[in-house]
Amino acid sequence: MKKHRILGAVAAAGVVALLATGCGRGGTAEPAASDGAQEPGGSGQIVGVAMPTQQSERWIADGDNVRSQLEALGYSVDLQYANDDIPTQVSQIENMISSGAEALIIASIDGTTLTDVLAQAGDAGIPVIAYDRLINGSPNVDYYTTFDNFQVGVQQATSLLTGMGVVDENGERTDEAGPLNVELFAGSPDDNNATFFWDGAMSVLEPLIEEGVLEVPSGQTEFEQAAILRWLPETAQERMENILTVIGDTELDGVLSPYDGLSIGIISALTSGGYSTDALPVITGQDAEVGSVQSIIAGEQYSTIFKDTRLLAEQAVAMVDSILNGEEPEVNDTETYDNGDHIVPSYLLESTIVTVDNYEEVLIDSEYYEESDLS
Ligand code: GAL
Repeated sequence: MKKHRILGAVAAAGVVALLATGCGRGGTAEPAASDGAQEPGGSGQIVGVAMPTQQSERWIADGDNVRSQLEALGYSVDLQYANDDIPTQVSQIENMISSGAEALIIASIDGTTLTDVLAQAGDAGIPVIAYDRLINGSPNVDYYTTFDNFQVGVQQATSLLTGMGVVDENGERTDEAGPLNVELFAGSPDDNNATFFWDGAMSVLEPLIEEGVLEVPSGQTEFEQAAILRWLPETAQERMENILTVIGDTELDGVLSPYDGLSIGIISALTSGGYSTDALPVITGQDAEVGSVQSIIAGEQYSTIFKDTRLLAEQAVAMVDSILNGEEPEVNDTETYDNGDHIVPSYLLESTIVTVDNYEEVLIDSEYYEESDLS
């Protein structure tokens, strides 16, 4: 019942509101050292934390987790959200530098627009950690922590295929020969992650498109055609509506969506386009945001990818703490993330496919959410 109210409200409110309200904790970790058990190493040094937007729960959880973990180590935290506006993010970072930040953790909006401000950081000897999204073009990016983004795309495509019965739960091909109709969405073209998700997904889907098991009725199979600037749910909704107009009566079996916010927009377009909520195509996602996990439980969205923001925050905080203590941060990848200037030493975390079959184990047993957050 609740789900219908939620999705109806989302369609009416232009989609983003739900993502921002966050009825759950979004996996926010409690500050760990309030009992004094942990030895503070920060002694009040300021760390600037620049996050892209509060229009999505995940970034709120990221910001909260980074802040509480840094504070637990004794650092002072200057956490700023830029409302997805590039000049705002640039000036926030400038302010952090001028007000004495000793390290910066940055989740960029557009990974190519920070070169000048990071030159100021470089001149001031302030180390820079790229958080989740790579910062491109700048020599002043010291470390990067993220998830294995190519693998996230592989997981999205794999769950799309599992949902449509093309592969079984062991990842083996079934005798489903199609043709199955799928449409493809990609993330924001200025976010370095978006091409990694797309390339990962297409590494799985392209051979099946060539084989004829999958068909893309709109014919839109290029990243540029599928990309949704700034990851905006309403833009995804609009594109899905346009596709439905173009493909007429052709029924869709699946939609590759790289992010929960887009999936919500896509579902809105599909339901207003005549699909009933219990007969939607298989729709993927990413981030395990509350509204989308509820949608999965309700049988609407099929899957999401869980990226534990607590662990990502932990890595970023560990990197800062090591650098400020004169130590080498731990990395596990020194090949993948070339930012156009240099290969940025990275720490990659693993992500998990979530469906209705495992959400309790993955999201509740891990205490990322409480059961009540999801009802
Ligand atoms: C990406 C991030 C995803 C998703 C998306 C939209 O950079 O890796 O997890 O949050 O942005 O915010």
